[in-house]
Amino acid sequence: MKKWWENAVIYQVYPSSFQDSDGDGIGDLEGVINRLPYIEKLGVDVIWLNPVYKSPNVDNGYDVSDYEDIQPVFGDMATFDRLLDEAHKRNIKIVMDLVVNHSSDQLDWFISSKKSKDNPYHDYYIWKNGSPDKLPNNWGSYFSGPAWTYDDKLGQYYLHLFAKEQPELNWRNKAMRQDVYKMMRWWLDKGIDGFRMDSISLLDKPVGLPDVPNPDHAKYADAQPIVADGPQLGQYLKEMNREVLSKYDGVSIGEMIGSKVDDAREYTGRDNHELDMIFQFEHVTLTPNPDKRLGKWNDERVKLTDLKASLSKWQYGLNKVGWNSLYWNNHDQPRAVSRFGNDSDEYRDVSAKMLALVLHLLKGTPYIYQGEELGMTNAHNTSLAQYRDLETLNAYKEIVVDEKLVSPEKMLRFFAEISRDNARTPMQWDDSEKAGFTSGKPWIDVNPNYVKINAQDEVDDPHSVFSFYQKLISLRHQSDLIVYGDYEELDPEDGQAFCYKRHYGTQTLLVMSNFTDQSLIRDYGQASGNQLVISNYSDDRGTMLRPYEAKAYLIQR
Ligand code: GLC
Repeated sequence: MKKWWENAVIYQVYPSSFQDSDGDGIGDLEGVINRLPYIEKLGVDVIWLNPVYKSPNVDNGYDVSDYEDIQPVFGDMATFDRLLDEAHKRNIKIVMDLVVNHSSDQLDWFISSKKSKDNPYHDYYIWKNGSPDKLPNNWGSYFSGPAWTYDDKLGQYYLHLFAKEQPELNWRNKAMRQDVYKMMRWWLDKGIDGFRMDSISLLDKPVGLPDVPNPDHAKYADAQPIVADGPQLGQYLKEMNREVLSKYDGVSIGEMIGSKVDDAREYTGRDNHELDMIFQFEHVTLTPNPDKRLGKWNDERVKLTDLKASLSKWQYGLNKVGWNSLYWNNHDQPRAVSRFGNDSDEYRDVSAKMLALVLHLLKGTPYIYQGEELGMTNAHNTSLAQYRDLETLNAYKEIVVDEKLVSPEKMLRFFAEISRDNARTPMQWDDSEKAGFTSGKPWIDVNPNYVKINAQDEVDDPHSVFSFYQKLISLRHQSDLIVYGDYEELDPEDGQAFCYKRHYGTQTLLVMSNFTDQSLIRDYGQASGNQLVISNYSDDRGTMLRPYEAKAYLIQR
């Protein structure tokens, strides 16, 4: 049976950087309501809203202190209800972020948990006996430092794979799980259309919480290899599905840090009743720093053959069994055009369209991260003072200040390539001061290139990146070939062009793209009377692929 989300395109709204309506410099829900006509014009079906719950905001809302209330700077529940209503009137669904691998340390569950070892909420979190000078194991936090914080009063440590203000919830506790399911039902009963589940691959921590091997002698080791895809995870997801998701028509999207294709086949396999689709991380983590002590920080550009191999592995791996989420970037990744394309004045526009075409014609559900549809670029920051992200600032302190592993200049170069803040600069609506994002002082600098890259210039320009995304979205809506066609990679060893086919019944779609600034010749028989469906150049030169050219042909058998 076909599912509504299979031919849908999802638009990600990062509320604090989308549209401010009250001049405090931070985007809000009223701002999202005001921009619904824009989102509708783009043609997407769903908005995924990053967390808007009440939060001390240590990690931009991924530290929830009240799961059933709205962060005051974003508005209130009445505004949220109006957003839901207004979006639904325009046939746009709303998917909420669900952050239940961890909570805020200010959530009443955690506050009670800390009261005493026999408090019923104590076991809602992961506590271990210990002494101030001996950590329970060698796990590090994703945001630097150890994954454990000591509580003097209890004489115990609690686990946090992210910031110390984000304690891990204990999924082995049944009452905790039931409370989470109750909260999920509360939102779904309100009428939301599903959840994007944050860090959901990390729910099941290994029994005994053992050390992880640490051959590189990092100060704290990366626990992901033994935490992701724990043996009980499938059971938790099945239970969540049974108790909550199966009773609604909403979509469930798992953010699966560290998951492998085989696990994803299980999570998204229709007969398994776990999740509808997942975000995997492989294609955005292909260039780890060879020096493990530096974690993700590097300025390497990915090799096209590696990127193709990874995307193809997931296309083949989930074909007919599960379902992929397709994305180049989000609020945790640098901007697509800067990372995989070319954000110079000469090639930004064409390479942004090339990336769009390549991604949107794959099998899966495509995601557009706000501003991607305009070809927005990395921030190109040059000073530390421009950064706001906790992960970035903590990494600087640990790697540059405390351990002196790289120079400040080098670290700033790494940040300019991959800091999460590259994606978090405000939406560029027009060329007025502050890019039309706010009348106040934006919480994070507007990218100075807003004068030439902005929505106002693009929306009505038939040749803009925005218009190109519109075309791709409407193509998907009309074509079972694009939604359901089987994927076939062409020439995996080609390090300059990414070409593939999609097959459905008697139809084949041939997709060709040039990832370089050189002209290439590639012949897959496309010149012989086949119909050009879409291209990012205004004319077609057959076997020639000009710099960053991308095109697709319909081949009738
Ligand atoms: C996810 C979110 C990220 C957040 C982290 C901790 O990876 O996407 O923004 O920092 O989880 O919640």
